Amino acid sequence: MQLRKRQTLPRVYSLAFLFLIGIEQCDGLTKRWLPNTNFGNPQNWNLGRLPCANDVISLQSANSASVFVQTNATTIKELRLPTDGEIVFADGIVLAFGEDTSAPATCGQDISFSRTDAKQWLDGDNWCVSDEIGQCTEAKSQLTLLDSEKIPCQSDHAIFPTQSTFLVDMDSGLQLFVGSLTIAGQSYSTADFNTFVTSDSGRKQFVSDDEGTMSHLTIKNQQCSDIAGCMCGNDKGEILEKICDLKRRQCQYLNCTNSFEPVGSCCHICGAMAVMNYGARFKMSILQNMIQDKYLNGKTAQTVSVSRRFDDKIQVVFRDSVDGTKAADIAATFQRDILKDIETGSLKYGIIDINVTRSGEVAPTSASQKGSGSGSGNGLSGGSVVGIVLALILLVVCVCLVVGYFWRKRKNGQGATFSIFSNKEKNGDMELGASVSYTDIDINGDGTLRGFDNPMYDSPIKDANFFANPAQIDPEVKFNPVYSPEGIEEDSSI
Ligand SMILES: *[C@@H]1O[C@H](CO)[C@@H](O)[C@H](O)[C@H]1NC(C)=O
Ligand SMILES: *[C@@H]1O[C@H](CO)[C@@H](O)[C@H](O)[C@H]1NC(C)=O
Ligand SMILES: *[C@@H]1O[C@H](CO)[C@@H](O)[C@H](O)[C@H]1NC(C)=O
Repeated sequence: MQLRKRQTLPRVYSLAFLFLIGIEQCDGLTKRWLPNTNFGNPQNWNLGRLPCANDVISLQSANSASVFVQTNATTIKELRLPTDGEIVFADGIVLAFGEDTSAPATCGQDISFSRTDAKQWLDGDNWCVSDEIGQCTEAKSQLTLLDSEKIPCQSDHAIFPTQSTFLVDMDSGLQLFVGSLTIAGQSYSTADFNTFVTSDSGRKQFVSDDEGTMSHLTIKNQQCSDIAGCMCGNDKGEILEKICDLKRRQCQYLNCTNSFEPVGSCCHICGAMAVMNYGARFKMSILQNMIQDKYLNGKTAQTVSVSRRFDDKIQVVFRDSVDGTKAADIAATFQRDILKDIETGSLKYGIIDINVTRSGEVAPTSASQKGSGSGSGNGLSGGSVVGIVLALILLVVCVCLVVGYFWRKRKNGQGATFSIFSNKEKNGDMELGASVSYTDIDINGDGTLRGFDNPMYDSPIKDANFFANPAQIDPEVKFNPVYSPEGIEEDSSI
């Protein structure tokens, strides 16, 4: 158990630091880690609220974690500490013990710290795109990120904000890369970070959940100044696999045909994707601006992701908020414009080759599939029910015929035989037609349904009327509960 007071950075230091990040902003993005292990975060407590007066507060479950106390806690009745935890106090924090007689009735409970699971570095939900000081920013443009780009890329700046502690699962055995890294206002190099994660405090904040070797984080500390754009580096191999393991459960049901999966995306999408080779004159910023100005402005339902893939092709993914057809139309215009640029030889955009993949039309949903949610496999049409029923009858008949045939062969014609199946005159050649006679049973009176009489019943169905009126029971027909009168009625309405 350690108690520690956080040092504040000297002012000059932080200013210089902000200046540096400011320069870096030219290229990579800044991505900020979201979850924390702060005392003052209601989500970190089992009761979903902050500790209040007269509470018995237990931090015992925060074993091996680091808890940051940034708010004054007054009139704590009791505070139970972990045996191997860390509590970091912000400047001037006061914990006061005592009894408060004017406390609200809802206070005075047992409350315990519940944020004990490490959150995954590779989970895009744990990061937001932020400004240099770690304020999450709404996406300013309609240029959106692929799943692989939601966690820090090898050219990005990763921020773990000040006034917080963290519990980060670094996974195991991976080679991760970031452009630069700031934890609580301090900038780290690869060596600094390695030292930090083996320190008492670091070991409580950056962990490998499955007890494996912690992934190795390389901090490049250099700008990506390539005018052709920066490769993210997370869009291949084991890293992408792990990102997608976490992401795939969020994939949405798609109703377009021929959906596809862009490189760096964990889910199939509806829309279109352009994959391009580029030449010497290619500039990522020109392409992005051109897409933004020509195809996006004013069309709020569309989003585009532009990336330089690991295989050094430029990928542009067009999406819309509906079924992808609008996005595909925009992609077609984009392709025409690029092809014109290539054919005329002006090569304004520096693209030398373009292929476009697009998803297909939305599959029509039939009445029986409506409301089934997934639209596939849940609703059987009336036609297939009839088909299945007929197939089942046929199967039963075939099995009976085969059993009967072998039974008869074995018994050598003596003893018990199914008289109904006896077809001695056939010399062992089995023909369905010999013992099962197909008849037309015209259910609707319009000849739409073919049936046959079932030899298992002593007498064939005589009366087609029986089907027409389900309430009527023919005493000579042994009723098969599989075919409920309701079912038949439903089928005949198709
Ligand atoms: C906590 O209480 C101390 C003493 O009353 C005060 O100086 C300090 O500003 C308080 N801190 C916060 C974060 O409220
Ligand atoms: C486009 O497709 C052709 C044929 O499959 C292929 O040879 C070419 O390399 C592709 N171009 C790009 C940019 O992927
Ligand atoms: C397809 O899905 C989109 C979004 O999930 C929805 O807005 C659209 O109405 C659907 N289209 C059809 C024809 O079901």
